[in-house]
Amino acid sequence: MSDDVTADVARIVATLPVADPDFLARVDEELPRLHGLFRTLYGDRDDSAERLASVVSLAARSWQERPPELKAHDHTREAEPTWFESERMLGGVCYVDRYAGGLRGIRDRIPYFQELGLTYLHLMPLFESPEGNSDGGYAVSSYRRVDPKLGTMAELKDLAADLREAGISLVVDFIFNHTSDEHEWARKAVTGDPRFDDFYLIYPDRTMPDAYERTTREIFPDDHPGSFVQLADGRWVWATFYHFQWDLNYANPAVFEAMAGEMLFLANQGVEVLRMDAVAFIWKRLGTPCESLPEAHLLLQAFNAVLRMAAPSLLFKSEAIVHPDEVSEYISPGECRLSYNPLQMALTWEALATRDGRMLQQALARRHALPAGTAWVNYVRSHDDIGWTFADEDAAELGIHGHSHRRFLNDFYVGRVDGSFAKGVPFQENPRTGDARIAGTTASLAGIETGDAGGEDRVVLAHALALSTGGIPLLYLGDEVAQLNDYAYLSDPAEAGDSRWVHRPRRVDGDVDRADASTPAGRVFARLSRLIDVRRATPEFAGNELIPFDAHVDAIVAFLRPGADGGVLVLANVSDHAASVDAVTLSGLASDTEDLVEGRRVSLHDGLEVAAHAVLWLRVTHRT
Ligand code: GLC
Repeated sequence: MSDDVTADVARIVATLPVADPDFLARVDEELPRLHGLFRTLYGDRDDSAERLASVVSLAARSWQERPPELKAHDHTREAEPTWFESERMLGGVCYVDRYAGGLRGIRDRIPYFQELGLTYLHLMPLFESPEGNSDGGYAVSSYRRVDPKLGTMAELKDLAADLREAGISLVVDFIFNHTSDEHEWARKAVTGDPRFDDFYLIYPDRTMPDAYERTTREIFPDDHPGSFVQLADGRWVWATFYHFQWDLNYANPAVFEAMAGEMLFLANQGVEVLRMDAVAFIWKRLGTPCESLPEAHLLLQAFNAVLRMAAPSLLFKSEAIVHPDEVSEYISPGECRLSYNPLQMALTWEALATRDGRMLQQALARRHALPAGTAWVNYVRSHDDIGWTFADEDAAELGIHGHSHRRFLNDFYVGRVDGSFAKGVPFQENPRTGDARIAGTTASLAGIETGDAGGEDRVVLAHALALSTGGIPLLYLGDEVAQLNDYAYLSDPAEAGDSRWVHRPRRVDGDVDRADASTPAGRVFARLSRLIDVRRATPEFAGNELIPFDAHVDAIVAFLRPGADGGVLVLANVSDHAASVDAVTLSGLASDTEDLVEGRRVSLHDGLEVAAHAVLWLRVTHRT
């Protein structure tokens, strides 16, 4: 540490209201890092030093207020810092209202979550937000008040404690790129309150918006073109997503401080993972796409440092649905320990459509590895659309043209292609650029809605991959009972313009269906439950290490999750026909293996046939 940093750090520490040695040790550890980040981000501003000091004192107050049970939990996690890499991890995600009516309803579902094996529960945005369209709650009007239709902050805190007791970590969104236009800060910014002047990016005319828009992408073109919307008084405000979601101006350190306060508040309610929403967009610079800029990473690192001081067990999960090179840049212990894996998700669907596993196989070989102490969150689908975020350069190596392949996949999943089994709906189709993404539930996209014979198998196959490649598998609750698309959104004016509502159905009471093996719901539930049970009992599925296995068959995706003298060999046939792996390809393995899902011995002596849409989890040993 240079002398001036040491002096600054000492000055800040001297003013802290906390004498707790644990906290002070963490400040010693983190403050030099935060100091450096502030210098890079805000060094050219007069208020930089003062803001840094007040952020640290905010962290100190937050630590003082942190409930003893959460401090105890911090210690537990400290003793086992890679807890989230366990083979016992399983995530679930749902909307509070659609799944259970409210927070109390969620609490009542805890026994079901335990039956399913959940250890992580992501509740979709539950904060106060505008009436009507609020982008499913992603337009937040207050980070400190729960939407009264769902419950109260006190109930959320109690729920977090009950979940913790049940071995389930509560995950909520940290929607920090933007607020709703009804947030107090937004209202004050518009009415000219000097404290909030600089909280958003508001311009008097089109000069700056035009300049920025020369290089930015349109994210929600159905809502508005470009990145800005006009205010009633004629000025323009930056709104990447919906017109009522205004991007915060992180070039102003007061915004960092304010949002750090909201983050620490949530941490002290008992939230264990914050899903960092829309991370790619948080920093803007003229002449760039304003996505994934270096400062976006510095900001996340700065939030991370604050968190380490005042809520050390909390983790960040990155939501970066961008080029795979950029996705991985957000993942490190100093930034986000967890990240969605949008590439594996998209390529699972790509493989099912093309009946060809090569792109997915290539991604597993090339883009799966992660730094120690971090993990993927592997999902089959989320509440959002499916975007084809593979790298064109990867596709080109396989002779695939990225742009036309994306068009094919979009056409395939909305059923415009012969041989399609899918019943998807386009999302944000942009006639100008030809871009689109896909909405639909897993069951509907996989073919159950169209009555395709392979539909159920594909649902199981997609989940079997998410459950076996490592990290935290994440289940969209309702998919385990094969819920179909819900077209009711078309008759609700607040939802009709956003086709993602098609795949956010209300929960039907699965208790009836899921026990009935004569229904798709019952069969899918039984098969997924079996996979989940097996995963939990298979230590090879912990962590992220994966060795690609070349089955020499395009239809088969294969990899080894290594274990003591072999491991678990996963083989997935994404096509509609049986495919065989020959004996020579398997000759490095002892011929006697165990199929973990079926619980039977399988011989590799004469090669192996994998049925259409089947996934095998074979415990294998290397031939000696
Ligand atoms: C994220 C959310 C998405 C939302 C957007 C804007 O991408 O997943 O649902 O529309 O952020 O907050």
